[in-house]
Amino acid sequence: MGVYSKPVVFAILSAVVILIGTVVTVFIPMLMPSTQPVSDYVKPYTVVELEGRDIYIREGCNNCHTQTVRPLRTEVLRYGEYSKPEEFAYDRPFLWGSRRTGPDLNRVGGKYPDSWHYKHMKSPQSMFDKSNMPPYGWMAENRLDTRYSKKKISILGYGYTEEEVERQIAGYKARVTSPSYDSKEARNEVTPEELRNELTEMDAVIAYLQKLGRDVKNMEAEE
Ligand code: HEC
Repeated sequence: MGVYSKPVVFAILSAVVILIGTVVTVFIPMLMPSTQPVSDYVKPYTVVELEGRDIYIREGCNNCHTQTVRPLRTEVLRYGEYSKPEEFAYDRPFLWGSRRTGPDLNRVGGKYPDSWHYKHMKSPQSMFDKSNMPPYGWMAENRLDTRYSKKKISILGYGYTEEEVERQIAGYKARVTSPSYDSKEARNEVTPEELRNELTEMDAVIAYLQKLGRDVKNMEAEE
């Protein structure tokens, strides 16, 4: 009979066994470096990309878009190289998502020029008749709020100094407002005149979209 006839002892022993199992399969791997791979190719977000990411979360883009290409032939053919754990080293929180009303975005960086995104964000239906993505043209009417950028960067531990944060914001602003910016026409079309020399929320979201998968594409190009 032994332990099977003693419900209390049995319950305690089972709890101990499950506890050991949990520690071995969950907590030990959590502390092992091999489960947290890092890659020299994967760079942290720039300040503007991070602000764009926050807007992406605010608007719930992740409710329609995943950011994980699964290692399935059909997905790799459609989106490109499947997602690797090290790519998400700087994602807090993760935006893997679970609903695919729209396509996966983990490899969208570099797929289109910025100008395409300005037009698509303003009116997805102008690019794809049947798109059920809502238009986000109003984002170009909102000046990008960078008041908390330094705080966010320091909390996330990206290691940029305060001067670096300012330099990055000024640098991106100079890029998109420059007369030689290759997507100037599309940007001017969606951005109200008084904001053309400022950074808008749409600029930041597009900077973020262009970062998705870029590091992996650079890695493949060098291999
Ligand atoms: C209601 C669901 C929905 C929401 C919310 C949504 N999208 Fe989409 N999105 C779609 C669908 C459907 C498509 C495919 C058709 C198209 O391109 O318009 C798409 C396409 C895209 C594409 C083009 C992808 C490609 O590879 O061609 C991008 C980029 C994109 N969305 C970004 C965003 C961003 C950024 C947000 C949030 C500001 C957002 N989406 C919110 C449904 C959505």
